[in-house]
Amino acid sequence: MMKKDLAVIILAAGKSTRMKSEVPKVLHKLCGRPMLGYVLDLVTALKPAQVVAVLGYKQELVREFIPKGIKIVIQKKLIGTADAVKTGLASLKSFKGTVLVLYGDNPLLKKDSLKKLLDYHLENNVDATLLTVTLKKPFGYGRIMRDKYSSICGIVEEKDADEVQKDIKEINTGIMAFKKEKLLAYLGSIRPNNRKKEYYLTDLIEILAKKNFLVDGVKVDDAAQGLGINTRAELAKANCLMQKTINDKLMQDGVTIIDPSSTFINFGTAIGKDTVIYPFTVIERDVKIGKRCFLGPFAHLREGVRLGDDVTAGNFIEMVRSRIGNKTFVKHFSYLGDSSVGANVNIGAGTVTANFDGKNKNYTLIKDNVNIGSDTVIVAPVKIGKFAMTGAGSVVTRNIPDKAVVVGVPARILRKK
Ligand code: UD1
Ligand code: CA
Repeated sequence: MMKKDLAVIILAAGKSTRMKSEVPKVLHKLCGRPMLGYVLDLVTALKPAQVVAVLGYKQELVREFIPKGIKIVIQKKLIGTADAVKTGLASLKSFKGTVLVLYGDNPLLKKDSLKKLLDYHLENNVDATLLTVTLKKPFGYGRIMRDKYSSICGIVEEKDADEVQKDIKEINTGIMAFKKEKLLAYLGSIRPNNRKKEYYLTDLIEILAKKNFLVDGVKVDDAAQGLGINTRAELAKANCLMQKTINDKLMQDGVTIIDPSSTFINFGTAIGKDTVIYPFTVIERDVKIGKRCFLGPFAHLREGVRLGDDVTAGNFIEMVRSRIGNKTFVKHFSYLGDSSVGANVNIGAGTVTANFDGKNKNYTLIKDNVNIGSDTVIVAPVKIGKFAMTGAGSVVTRNIPDKAVVVGVPARILRKK
């Protein structure tokens, strides 16, 4: 059910200064998907009445990933998170209730943590509730300051923290829930009095605490959820954690992964039960795999691959934009691109579809029960009929009728049936 009194502001305007990148930070990928996508999933799950995405740096690229129904606003100058929230808030004029702020560079956050935060915020009638985690190495994050009663009294950013404050291990994830009227009334009081000369949203916490409004925190035990991605090293770390989540889920659903730490499967891959995946298999976006298949070791399945049931895509295989029928074997050293292969086909070792003529990608059709001899090169476009066979080392340049046997370079018909 839609939550009438919940609005979300997603901050995604920032540059990727610390990534040293031309690509906006929120479009850098985790397991084949822009990190922003994971944050947008959370928003969808929450069913808020209104959602605003604040874009800025290369907004024309980022907006393509924002689904309909989410309002886009542009932060003209990237002068800090407080200014970004202010920009978002301007388009929530008639809204009353809770405003949840999410950062676009925080993709490991889970729905349950947000629920916990929002429940606490509402049940206790808090003015500002922060999501915090405790990190062994809190470097780079805003530290949560607590007074002698252990109440939150402010946040100090790394660059502005003194040695004692740098020792604080509880950090600000950046995820905050506010009563809208408090945001509206006090965002304007934030001053850029810090080393970066930016308007920090985090300064609002001290402002509200000093006015004796209720500021509180909800701690999440799983520290990874607080991981904000500012650098390539953090991106790699988050990728690794996301990969673990994806692999764990596949195993839970009945897929055998011999060595999850050397198996790289993109977000959104569907794999049927009792499929076995050997190490060093890489599966990219938009791939669907049937039941009881064997993949790898060293299989590379790229976009647009569809494997039926009982398919083997074995050692050192690359496939892209290809459909492979049930019970077909592609066992050793093969490249299949832009092809459709039927059922019960055997593709011999070293088979290559030469799908690119220098200008265009061309299509290969291999019908059911075909036997492709080792080291066959199929120069597309080509159709190979049912029960046809190619001899080892043949270079197929023309269509092969059903049941025919071809050999040689270029392949000629040896036998017809
Ligand atoms: C921020 C927090 C820090 C927290 C950390 C958690 C502030 C001042 N600091 O630091 O306390 O521990 O996140 O990961 O908020 N953005 C805009 N417009 C801007 C600036 C930033 O939209 O003008 C967006 C960025 O795209 C990003 C998010 O806000 O998605 C956070 O900004 P970032 O620069 O990454 O903040 P941190 O330094 O990581
Ligand atoms: Ca960040």
